[in-house]
Amino acid sequence: MKNIFGTRRLGRTDLQVTPVGLGVMQFAGATGIWRLIFDEMDTPEMHAIVRAALEGGINWFDTAEIYGRGRSEEGLASGLKAAGKADDEVRIATKWMPLLRTAGNIRKTIGERKRRLAPYSIDLYYVHNATGFSSPEAEMNAMADLVEAGDIRTVGVSNFDEARMRRAHGALAERGIPLAANQMEFSLLNRKIEADGVLDAARELGITIVAYSPLARGLLTGKFHYDPDVLKNTPIGRRLYLQRMIEKTRPLIDALGSIARSHETTAAQVALNWLIQVHGETVVVIPGASSVSQAEEAAAVMGFKLTTDEIDRLDQLSKQYR
Ligand SMILES: NC(=O)c1ccc[n+]([C@@H]2O[C@H](COP(=O)([O-])OP(=O)(O)OC[C@H]3O[C@@H](n4cnc5c(N)ncnc54)[C@H](OP(=O)(O)O)[C@@H]3O)[C@@H](O)[C@H]2O)c1
Repeated sequence: MKNIFGTRRLGRTDLQVTPVGLGVMQFAGATGIWRLIFDEMDTPEMHAIVRAALEGGINWFDTAEIYGRGRSEEGLASGLKAAGKADDEVRIATKWMPLLRTAGNIRKTIGERKRRLAPYSIDLYYVHNATGFSSPEAEMNAMADLVEAGDIRTVGVSNFDEARMRRAHGALAERGIPLAANQMEFSLLNRKIEADGVLDAARELGITIVAYSPLARGLLTGKFHYDPDVLKNTPIGRRLYLQRMIEKTRPLIDALGSIARSHETTAAQVALNWLIQVHGETVVVIPGASSVSQAEEAAAVMGFKLTTDEIDRLDQLSKQYR
């Protein structure tokens, strides 16, 4: 598939990733609370999604310990194996969940993460959010130990505000390690990081912003606006958010639709393309896919460019979400 964007350097590390990666939270399966969010997905479907992403030119995937307690990691690794990919042909990011834990748990659980993802390496390991009992300095020191031990290649944080991100960056710098990325919610319907200092600080420090939920959990695709039945069939955990947002977002969704028609793409692809263009090399995106066609569409985002006028029009229509 055509990729006119090439790859982007992840922070100040030597890792190169395509501007679109694939999020595989959707592989968590309908276990525990995940059944409120996603339908069950079988192994052949996971394999087909991974293969479609790779064939479309995506070179990296985003998963986490918490996504089905390792089910997503395992599904990803088995999909990569089924596609015949060697370890050095793909990049994998996963995350440690700090909730009710201290930094010591990072070292304790790394063996489990490696087992789930085997035979693939952990290229980027994030602290998933700021809910842990330890300071960011203690968490980054534990991460630095893993880098030095060869368990992971690079370190990221997720859902860290500006102050916490700066502390994490500083702690790693003392160990001679760059903070590669801060994974934050960022989309045309959630532009908080542009106003709260996170994006500016990331640019200043050379940290990549990895935009999660870049389609606002599907809302930016327009499918909920134009077909009420789609909403009815969406699991309750996402339905409540979507329901609340439909009417107020209609002008933006209509604009995405009209821009999409002129590029012969979809609204989802326009929304993702905006994200990988609007702040240059600083931002990369990880849309989630629950079908092969969604993974194909995600990859094809790297095949076209919005014009400056189109970027500005979307900017104006989504300013209120800063
Ligand atoms: N760090 C964090 O705290 C955090 C939080 C959330 C997510 N993430 C990561 O970010 C990734 C993406 O976020 P997300 O899944 O929350 O949201 P998203 O990418 O904004 O939305 C994904 C959903 O949009 C729909 N979709 C995707 N492509 C589509 C297309 N081409 N046409 C129509 N519908 C399409 C699918 O909905 P249906 O399933 O209804 O088809 C899919 O499940 C996750 O997989 C995960 O890796 C990280």
